[in-house]
Amino acid sequence: MSQKPNAIILGGLNTCSRALAGLLVPVEGESLVSSLRIVDKYSVVPPTTYLGSEFPQVLAKDNVEYKQANLTVSSIVSSAFDPPAGQEPYSLVFDLTGDVAYDRPEKVQINHTCNVARLIGEEAARRNVKAYVRLQQPWYESPDKGLHDEQEDVKPYGVIGTWWHESLRILGAIEGLNLVILRIGLVYGPYIDFGLMTNVLTVAAVYGYMKKPMKSLWNPGHNSMNTVHSDDVAGGLWAAAQWMSRVGRAEALSLAGEEIYWRNDKSKVTEVTGMPLPDKKIIAPLFNLTDNNGTTLDKAGKTMTAFFGTIFEYHNFVTSAMIRFRLEDVVEDINEAHVSGWAEMLTKSNPPVTKTPLSAYMSTFSLSKHTIAFSNKKIQRIIGYQLKRPTMADDVLSEVVDKWKTEGSWPTIQS
Ligand SMILES: *[C@@H]1O[C@H](CO)[C@@H](O)[C@H](O)[C@H]1NC(C)=O
Ligand SMILES: *[C@@H]1O[C@H](CO)[C@@H](O)[C@H](O)[C@H]1NC(C)=O
Repeated sequence: MSQKPNAIILGGLNTCSRALAGLLVPVEGESLVSSLRIVDKYSVVPPTTYLGSEFPQVLAKDNVEYKQANLTVSSIVSSAFDPPAGQEPYSLVFDLTGDVAYDRPEKVQINHTCNVARLIGEEAARRNVKAYVRLQQPWYESPDKGLHDEQEDVKPYGVIGTWWHESLRILGAIEGLNLVILRIGLVYGPYIDFGLMTNVLTVAAVYGYMKKPMKSLWNPGHNSMNTVHSDDVAGGLWAAAQWMSRVGRAEALSLAGEEIYWRNDKSKVTEVTGMPLPDKKIIAPLFNLTDNNGTTLDKAGKTMTAFFGTIFEYHNFVTSAMIRFRLEDVVEDINEAHVSGWAEMLTKSNPPVTKTPLSAYMSTFSLSKHTIAFSNKKIQRIIGYQLKRPTMADDVLSEVVDKWKTEGSWPTIQS
């Protein structure tokens, strides 16, 4: 009889689920779990989202199962938790759901992020799972100075941030749920086609190819943009699940419980099922997970441009203020050079790149100012988590780019 738990990962195939699956059931080496089920809305055969070349090998393992399912439907969520005949129930739940498109209307965010989290959370509580780990993306605006710990009331970023944050309050209000929240920095890593850092990396490559400086709209300032490697997102999720299984809900709350502050509009309470009232105090174990790189806009820009043989500069004050003021109008102009540069790189590549999930297009969201500054001390202190990839250095970036080159998603240019 195996002592290992059965785990289920919900959502996040387009963000961090593949990295987590690769940790729980490595392509080579021993599995950390007895069996793994992954549930998301995408098809994997044939794929309707980018999977990267490693994940299909994880899916091919005997103890891994993929289910394509619509998690906005309560009965489907419930059956997603039913183990196959003869198997023990799932005891660890990794909730990586939530809509990551920055420009979704509020109603869609409510349906895709809050409601899905609530349905999964309620089902997991009914089934008494040992650990329910929610992955929280960094859609917050940290104050500009210093690092911020889990006690601080950090402001959610826009519509996406407001509803992702609300989903934490909704989950925190579910009785008996063994919830742990892992709030990460900006993720990057092998086969991570999602997110701001990947976008910046791709654009930096284009400026390197064009042998031109990459210019920022924002002055150096503090502009923290804390990062985290996907290996650590996976490692942190696993460590948090093990910790919760070991200590249980009451102890976890006393060791790591934090208030999840009200950050919404009072009028919404009646519109959204399960949304706790503004004055209801929600406490949940919450951990930040960022690396030790101290990434800022300046540092990421300089590291990535240097990696591709160019430099990172700033527009002068007047130009950048003008562009920022008219961002919606000028976004296409800003993109013209690097989108066509990337297209040229893909054709000139030997062999040519005919299919890639990566784009050099920078949305108004990518071009806007983001300040993400989360201290990572608590997860180290309480869970004892040790970072596997503490710095975003050249060797780590090199590994990311080389893996894309090997699978044919990134151009190989002979100079
Ligand atoms: C999922 O179910 C909802 C509710 O029935 C429906 O509106 C939506 O279109 C479904 N999504 C997909 C991708 O089938
Ligand atoms: C949200 O979900 C409700 C109930 O499933 C559905 O009636 C509504 O059309 C959905 N709205 C959006 C914008 O997806």
